[in-house]
Formats: sequence, C-alpha cells, structure tokens
Amino acid sequence: MSRLVFVLNGPNLNLLGKRQPHIYGHETLADVEADCRRTAGELGLEIRFHQSNAEHQIIDWIHEARESAAGIVINPAAFTHTSVAILDALNTCDFPVIEVHISNVHKREAFRHHSYVSLVASGVIAGFGTQGYTLALQRLARLIGETA
Ligand code: DQA
Repeated sequence: MSRLVFVLNGPNLNLLGKRQPHIYGHETLADVEADCRRTAGELGLEIRFHQSNAEHQIIDWIHEARESAAGIVINPAAFTHTSVAILDALNTCDFPVIEVHISNVHKREAFRHHSYVSLVASGVIAGFGTQGYTLALQRLARLIGETA
C-alpha cells in the first residue's frame, strides 16, 4: 500500500511570505514544505511537494499522483474558484483529496466562496494559516490508514 502523498500548490503561492502577509502570513513556501516533511515523517508518509503557476502543470502532477500516490493535499489557490479542468483531473483519482486554504476564504470576497475542488474533496481546511497543511496531512494519514 502506497504511503506517498502529493502536496500541490497553485498560482502565486511561490510568493508566500512576501505576498499580502496580513492575509497569508510571513511563512514562506519553503517553511511550509519543511513543516510538511517533518509531519509526514512522523506520520510515516512520503511526500512530493510542488508549486506551479500553470494550470496544466498541476493537472500533470495530479495525473502522476493517480498512478502512484495514496492521496493529495491541494491548495489550488485562485484555480479553486475557476478550474473545471483541475476538478476533472481530481475526479480521475480514487483516493482522498484534502483541500487547503491558508486564509478563511468564507470571510473574503464572494468569488472566493465557491470552490470547484470542494466537489471532490474529502474535507476542506480554511483559515488555519499554513498550519492547515500539516492538519491536512494528519487527516490524510488517518484516511489512508482506514483504507489500507
Ligand atoms: C488561497 C485562497 C484563494 O482564494 C486565493 O486565490 C489564493 C490562496 C488561500 O490559501 O487562502 O491564492 O487558496
């Protein structure tokens, strides 16, 4: 049984720490990756951590994950609210998907209240800051354990 999890990040998250820190905080994506690697180690998970500003690249990583992984943690960033293509790719996966948002999208503009990815997600974490990623890994480990 695979213990491999893909952690995927969408557009502009490469600027985490510099980008609107009053909304997204001061931690960088490298900090988030380090936190995820530490938590994954504790949970006995192996992770592939990726970020891209390109929709097609995220779709290609989802296709890679569907062949090899046991779950996905994804912060699709702005593609959350626009991408039927990412939803379709996730719908080809028969493992749990956890959606993460650093900010509380429900407290923000109305266009952030709708998520295509939520239609496929086992669960959604929003507004817990970057801690949401490690919480998502904990939940994924539990879900993977249940299906092992
Ligand atoms: C985000 C929320 C999205 O609405 C936004 O487009 C992002 C980041 C978050 O992590 O809070 O880029 O996904």
